[in-house]
Amino acid sequence: MTDNLAGFTYRFEKGSAAGSPPILLLHGTGGDENDLIDLGRVVAPGSALLSPRGQVLEHGMPRFFRRLAEGVFDEADLKQRTDALADFVIAARKRYALEAPIALGFSNGANIAAAMLMQRPDILSGAVLLRAMVPYGGPPAASIPGTSVLIASGAQDPIMPASNPAQLAAQLRERGAAVDHRIVPAGHGLTQADVNLAAAFVKNIAVKAPA
Ligand code: MLT
Repeated sequence: MTDNLAGFTYRFEKGSAAGSPPILLLHGTGGDENDLIDLGRVVAPGSALLSPRGQVLEHGMPRFFRRLAEGVFDEADLKQRTDALADFVIAARKRYALEAPIALGFSNGANIAAAMLMQRPDILSGAVLLRAMVPYGGPPAASIPGTSVLIASGAQDPIMPASNPAQLAAQLRERGAAVDHRIVPAGHGLTQADVNLAAAFVKNIAVKAPA
């Protein structure tokens, strides 16, 4: 069911397995709150799913923040939208009595999740960043020791050079995160390899989470 909270339209699916970490689903450009629900169910069976729709429209396509061109971000807008999304997560955690979620983001959604890890380090308990890029040229200082992050990049991704996600991995490691950066034989679109990597990563975090 679609609902509204803290300025966001979103979908929430209750978890069915106690102790499974809630998942924050963050869609790519042109997606919406329905887009990643099936992916979330496969990657994290039994977890609660929280899936907001990006508030920005680019030629009618929802996004989580504005960009000036493909891969060129409006960083002032990103900063403000990252805070708004973090505040939405706080409100949703109160509404549904949720633990801190693991983000599962694709493309534009992965980019705002990466921004949130560095700008609002207390919001996420981990992140799966599928086809993520460096969100900030000069990211904020943050300390996120013990936060596990999976980055899955496409070896033939036409919208970013291989150095870009490698730089993101380095930025997150400098801030203390445990980053597993995998490069899959794919373009920008997702493949079964991404699904398998994400599922294994979430399962491992779920085991470590306190009941
Ligand atoms: C972005 O704008 O976040 C990236 O270019 C990825 C995308 O196309 O959404």
